[in-house]
Amino acid sequence: MTKKIEDTQTRAKITLTDSRGDRRYEFPILEGTVGPDVIDIRSLYADTGLFTYDPGYTSTGSCESKITFIDGDQGTLLHRGYRIEDLAEHCDYLEVVYLLLKGELPNPAQKLKFEQDITRHTMLHEQINYFYRGFRRDAHPMAVMCGVVGAMSAFYHDSLDISDPRQRMVASYRLVAKMPTIAAWAYKYSMGQPFVYPRNNLSYAENFLHMMFAVPCEEFEANPVLARAMDRILILHADHEQNASTSTVRLAGSSGANPFACISAGIASLWGPAHGGANEAVLNMLQEIGSKERIPEFIARAKDKNDPFRLMGFGHRVYKNYDPRAKVMQRTCHEVLDELGLRNEPLLELAMELERIALQDEYFVEKKLYPNVDFYSGIIFRAMGIPVSMFTVLFAVARTVGWIAQWNEMIEDPHQKIGRPRQLYTGYPQRAFVPLSQRG
Ligand code: CMC
Repeated sequence: MTKKIEDTQTRAKITLTDSRGDRRYEFPILEGTVGPDVIDIRSLYADTGLFTYDPGYTSTGSCESKITFIDGDQGTLLHRGYRIEDLAEHCDYLEVVYLLLKGELPNPAQKLKFEQDITRHTMLHEQINYFYRGFRRDAHPMAVMCGVVGAMSAFYHDSLDISDPRQRMVASYRLVAKMPTIAAWAYKYSMGQPFVYPRNNLSYAENFLHMMFAVPCEEFEANPVLARAMDRILILHADHEQNASTSTVRLAGSSGANPFACISAGIASLWGPAHGGANEAVLNMLQEIGSKERIPEFIARAKDKNDPFRLMGFGHRVYKNYDPRAKVMQRTCHEVLDELGLRNEPLLELAMELERIALQDEYFVEKKLYPNVDFYSGIIFRAMGIPVSMFTVLFAVARTVGWIAQWNEMIEDPHQKIGRPRQLYTGYPQRAFVPLSQRG
């Protein structure tokens, strides 16, 4: 629980000065475990008649959470107190899923039981098979993801009652278990290949690669280096505190909407190029740059204030130091390129050269614009043969557990209210209505 700092020295005091003179107000300060304290302004409007103004929520804490902690200046990311580097090194994805959902790492018996529980839910209702056929073959797979995940609320009626903790847990397991199947089928549909059903004797990552790349006419065995890389990518994207898509899930859920609808809203938010769409944007940018010789031209454009071009895969709202996930991802990227003998593939060579130049460039160094996790994930996916349009889909698969853990936490929070931000209105004040015949 948050603690109120009782020491009066550390209360936030504001003075409003106008023609009526000075009015003074005090607000308590709440202390978390680590990270900045927060000014509790819940009574601000009632006390002062004023709202705060914070577009993009750069200074606003929207909830209390025990799941993930980020220190962007230090480059630290913790899930339930554990460093992401340790989780990526020593855990598999389902262990991290357990940690995020339940708050502790599982012991061996709990891990086994959890794996069995999740794999029992990997198949989709067979009718969903027909639902896919309503989409155009050339539909973007993120559009398919939004549609199919949203449609889950039309298929799984027995896990829609959000006031029942058991139903919430079943919905959570269903989402984690079915998301790789939904994603792989979105890909298969676009390829015109038959859907491949999940195999519960495989690990989460192996099963995903199997459903993506197996065809009925050939044996398929996932390359262990690629399966481990996929598992790591899933771990590194599992949760990231109150980012745009997670806040979207919380906001959608705050009205009491069902979990499938909320996760579908999260997927829609993730799709944007400033968020999950960045890994797709990285590859498109590399294709646009085309050759190493043109890198300086694009670096110059990224620095030019009058040019909207940005180096995709560089910079982060929170990390003003190297993103700890990007470090793990960089290693994984090099492992995958070595395993597949792709070091000399022109596009990947170009990416490595861009990374080298940007890390030395004064503009990027000064503004602390390091390569982010999307820079490397895009390159790894490309090397694995995953089409660009599927990149953000993979992010959505991995992030589902974060969304669902945060959604559960919100539902259980006694302070939870429907999310309802206010605004600074700058439009017309009330004015007289003009009938159509009198409008010039
Ligand atoms: N290329 C060139 N300049 C940049 C870049 C970039 N990628 N990113 C930021 N800057 C500059 C920006 O022009 C600004 O300069 P100035 O102070 O002179 O006006 C300064 O750096 C600060 O940028 P900002 O836009 O105020 O920072 P922000 O926190 O609002 O933006 C960001 C963060 C991620 C949206 C931005 O860095 C960006 O657009 N990056 C490219 C897209 C990308 O890779 N997104 C993935 C983010 S990580 C995945 C995730 O967690 O969802």
